[in-house]
Amino acid sequence: MATITIDGKAYEVKDGQNLLQAALSQGLNLPYFCWHPALGSVGACRQCAVKQYKDENDKNGRLVMACMTPAKDGSRFAIKEPNAQEFRSAVTEWLMVNHPHDCPVCDEGGECHLQDMVVMTGHNYREFRFNKRTHRNQDLGPFINHEMNRCISCYRCTRFYREYAGGRDFNVFGMHDHVYFGRYEDGPLENEFSGNLVEICPTGVFTDKTEKQHFTRKWDLQTAPSICHGCSLGCNIIPGARSGMLRRIRNRYNYDINGYFLCDRGRFGYEYVNSERRIWQARMNGEVVEPEVAINHVVKRLQTGRTIGIGSPRASLESNFALRRLVGQENFYMGISKHGAKLMKTAVSLLQHIPTPSLRQIGEADAVFILGEDVTNTAPMMALALRQSVRQQAMDQITPLNIPPWQDMAVREALQNDPNGPLFIGSLPHTRLDDIATYTYHAAPADLAQLGFAVAHTLDDSAPAVTDLDPELSGLVNKIAQALGTAKRPLIVSGVSSGSEAVMQAAANVAFALGENGRLSLIFYAANSLGAALLGNNSVEEAPEADTVIVLENDVRHWAVETAVSNTLDAAKQVIVLDYLENDTTAQADVVLPGAAFAEADGTLVNNEGRAQRFYQVYKPESEAQASWRWLEAIRAAQTEAAPSDWDGLVMDIAASDPIFADLPQDAPLATFRVNGQKIARQPMRYSGHTSIHADRSVSEPPPTADPDTPLAFSMEGSEQQPPAALVNRYWAPGWNSVQSLNRFQEEIGGPLRGDSEGVRLFTAVTDDHAYFRTIPLAFSAEDNTWRVLPIYHIFGSEELSAQSPAIAARAPQPYLALNPDDAAKLELVEGETAVLNQTLSLPVKLLHSLPKGTIGLPIGLSSGAELVGKDVQILQSKNRTQMNAD
Ligand code: SF4
Ligand code: SF4
Ligand code: FES
Repeated sequence: MATITIDGKAYEVKDGQNLLQAALSQGLNLPYFCWHPALGSVGACRQCAVKQYKDENDKNGRLVMACMTPAKDGSRFAIKEPNAQEFRSAVTEWLMVNHPHDCPVCDEGGECHLQDMVVMTGHNYREFRFNKRTHRNQDLGPFINHEMNRCISCYRCTRFYREYAGGRDFNVFGMHDHVYFGRYEDGPLENEFSGNLVEICPTGVFTDKTEKQHFTRKWDLQTAPSICHGCSLGCNIIPGARSGMLRRIRNRYNYDINGYFLCDRGRFGYEYVNSERRIWQARMNGEVVEPEVAINHVVKRLQTGRTIGIGSPRASLESNFALRRLVGQENFYMGISKHGAKLMKTAVSLLQHIPTPSLRQIGEADAVFILGEDVTNTAPMMALALRQSVRQQAMDQITPLNIPPWQDMAVREALQNDPNGPLFIGSLPHTRLDDIATYTYHAAPADLAQLGFAVAHTLDDSAPAVTDLDPELSGLVNKIAQALGTAKRPLIVSGVSSGSEAVMQAAANVAFALGENGRLSLIFYAANSLGAALLGNNSVEEAPEADTVIVLENDVRHWAVETAVSNTLDAAKQVIVLDYLENDTTAQADVVLPGAAFAEADGTLVNNEGRAQRFYQVYKPESEAQASWRWLEAIRAAQTEAAPSDWDGLVMDIAASDPIFADLPQDAPLATFRVNGQKIARQPMRYSGHTSIHADRSVSEPPPTADPDTPLAFSMEGSEQQPPAALVNRYWAPGWNSVQSLNRFQEEIGGPLRGDSEGVRLFTAVTDDHAYFRTIPLAFSAEDNTWRVLPIYHIFGSEELSAQSPAIAARAPQPYLALNPDDAAKLELVEGETAVLNQTLSLPVKLLHSLPKGTIGLPIGLSSGAELVGKDVQILQSKNRTQMNAD
């Protein structure tokens, strides 16, 4: 710790911080623009000026930028000194010279860092009387609105977009006071993390275009802490709603997981919740019925013959558990394919034997080997973390230069010759991380597995050797083994996306071979794949014929082999579906019960690390839709004449059902939790009433909905004190209306939130009993006229729910069939020409140089045919041509 003096008062601060960080950590008000805790300092805006004194005898001091000045032990500063205050006020005045006075029509208004800083610096009146500089705005695609006139040239956007997120299509153009932040021409921002510009930009240059269509001021949003359902990482989010409609998603800081950022799928993929295809009422045989009628019908069905339940990797732990309890453990099946279920079982076992890091720790890894995952498209925020990891080893090397890590420009200067790696990528086709990879290897799953097995053997010769390894790979194998073996924090990334168990086993062998340094991060299909796998038995494809099938939040055909699912559903006398969007499975249902989408329900998700995290109901829709676990508990109660479980009761029952869930109740406070005897308000204290909206019927504000299940209230009434991290539903502090007010919620700037930790890890790996996997697949060999189907993932389009949000759909590619150009030439197919697969699936050809020869790439979620993944396809013919290989 260091002791510094600010305005005559001594403060104990953490060693190695800059003064701005240290002052904010102490709760002091000091304006800033260009500094960001994740991006470091560049000293560009001059807004954080303070006086620094040599010693107690120095009465004059000198102006320094707090963000560029180390808070060394014994140093002395003044924030309130008149020269420093005048300087900061003058800086604001300069910045405001060209800033329009359009706050009332700016989407940032009311949560704008510039507004806050103008007030904080006391520059309350504008004296500039001349024309302001104006710019032409660009169309940046369906996610982001551009209003360049509001720019104050802090450079945060380009630093985030280019240096932190690796984007290349956005930059700063021009010079002097005519700088322009945008693309070289109109067009969608290509980087998968572009949405963070909305929160990074301290003014209203970049705002959320999806929110604009149903805009609501921050103070009129009802919010609750929530978890992103877009992939298996479990990033923390704050959804905001008004008048029964979900309006936007903002980042919810989680020190261990997503930190300050979200990916664009997570931020903009929410609008399916407002879809016209929502199911709002119970129905039987196509007719709308009262909920009680539907419940009684299901109860009768449960008494007739055998009933099986099909769970869901996207439904909450509670809903899956409630279904399992209703139908009995032996009748509960995982709602994914047989092969997928096998992969999940392998994954669960691996996570219990190999430590798995959090996303924050992934960003700190100093040597990474990715095997079989296109991380940007299957777990986007992990890709952002990996972009930071490639700087770690080089950062260690600059320690002797005595450059503090927050000195961003100096660090980047020092690293310029060797900023990358080591990062080795073994993937099917190319990935969006290839630009920072030390080496990439694109191959079929069997060859990727061979690479992994060979690396493990090189690290530890008691691991099995690969006898038919391509000799050309031996150099790469040695390089990977050397990099991982000498790293302090090595990491292996793999998962289920390649569809290959051998790939995951090879990755596990590498982690085993690294001994106590070995860490493995696995990526799964959906938000609660791991939670469902911890509850589940076998796959839906192994389900027996039954009289009644209850399907939970699952378009089963999205996950499982169509014919097997059809057999199960077709054979049933009754199909009962709980879901919130119409799909092929609801179309086949005899009974449909309207489930609640994530923003309308309470639940728990288990992320890819095994961390259970709670998401809370943001608003109650004006319909019969409710969380599936409530429907299932109502059915169980009607069947057994017992009371349905409330939320806490259900969580306790899950915890008691299996030791692996024993810590589940600790993932968030129970319903009885109060702050100073009060609930936590979902509505901020400035929330406007709805009186005028309902004025044609009544001028009274309707009473708020009761919420007996959580410590949150559906009203403005509640504690203003900061709740524990798991219950933080907005960031606001006096004088801090923007997202920067998060500074007031952290133990220290950039550190964990105050209060209890967010979520709970359900298990820790037991590392002392592992055995190497010894079944090594034979190398893949391309065969004449036979193609192995490989999956290709897209951040926009491959995930079932977000793909139904208009903005995401606008960014999703059209369906295609990828071929290596050499294979295409053999088949006399050219780019764009229609190819027919198995005489049923017609898709335009896309040439993909990185796709291994002898394989076909099929984009997941964009077309049917997912059941062909991993299979050898015998026939591939172009339309209107004769079959090329009828044998
Ligand atoms: S666009 Fe926003 S983030 Fe970028 S320089 Fe201007 S004010 Fe800063
Ligand atoms: S990485 Fe996954 S969990 Fe995180 S914001 Fe993106 S889609 Fe959501
Ligand atoms: S925040 Fe210190 S100079 Fe910009």
